Amino acid sequence: MKIAISGKGGVGKTTFAANLARWLSKKAITVLAVDADPDASLGTLLGISEDVLEDLKPIVDMKALIEDRMGGSGTYYALNPNVDDILDDYSIPMGTLRFFRMGNIKGGGTSCYCKENSFLQALVNSLILGEQDTVILDMGAGIEQLTRGTAQGVDVLVIVTEPTKVSAQTVKVIQKLALELGIPRVVVIGNKVRNSKDENFLRDRFPKEQLIGIIPYSDELMEMSITTGNGELPAGSLSAQLDSIYQEIIGEGR
Ligand SMILES: Nc1ncnc2c1ncn2[C@@H]1O[C@H](COP(=O)(O)OP(=O)(O)OP(=O)(O)O)[C@@H](O)[C@H]1O
Ligand SMILES: [Mg+2]
Repeated sequence: MKIAISGKGGVGKTTFAANLARWLSKKAITVLAVDADPDASLGTLLGISEDVLEDLKPIVDMKALIEDRMGGSGTYYALNPNVDDILDDYSIPMGTLRFFRMGNIKGGGTSCYCKENSFLQALVNSLILGEQDTVILDMGAGIEQLTRGTAQGVDVLVIVTEPTKVSAQTVKVIQKLALELGIPRVVVIGNKVRNSKDENFLRDRFPKEQLIGIIPYSDELMEMSITTGNGELPAGSLSAQLDSIYQEIIGEGR
């Protein structure tokens, strides 16, 4: 199953991705958690130490590897490089969970990053259309790494939102893109919900079929993000709520 996570900056995408990955892993499901966000923090929230992460360059910055796979020089390079083994070789294993840091498509400036971008696109194709059973892709607000060719391979796109106008507006933009790309299932999760006013704000904007879950604001989590950097959503009363959201996403509850 391929799960992509998107939403406006800071709404809680990575926190959600990390907790979903942990939950799947606890159920002994093999899961590959992929950081596809330029502002990489999934590794930290999964509890991987800073030293290990510091040594782990995003794959897009591994020049020699890209040269090797893409071959050629100048504007000539392989259009379909074989990258299937890269996921195995460059991911960090943590039991049934593996972490892979992709890096983001480069653009702008004066240099051409065509080769890097083609390489990354091949990786996304391999991740989404390939053999790996459960993949969680933590994307930024943009879902431009998905193409018409890969979008159908994504089983579900989860859009995380806060109860704010700007973040709800971003949901609409992403939903529109997702529809154009042909992503089969798109769901919305409300996060950092403090009270019934917040909840109603979201329920007014998104129909029941779309808004499949609400996660309350957690002071404890905020505190943890300052102290340990660990992004584990506190258990207790929240567990049952989170379980049902995760189940809904992987289709167990349906
Ligand atoms: N339910 C919650 N309650 C309280 N704080 C939360 C909650 N969910 C996330 N946060 C906090 O919000 C901040 C942003 O979370 P996170 O990094 O997961 O968001 P993001 O959408 O991935 O951000 P970015 O766009 O920068 O990648 C973190 O400090 C995190 O601890
Ligand atoms: Mg993030």
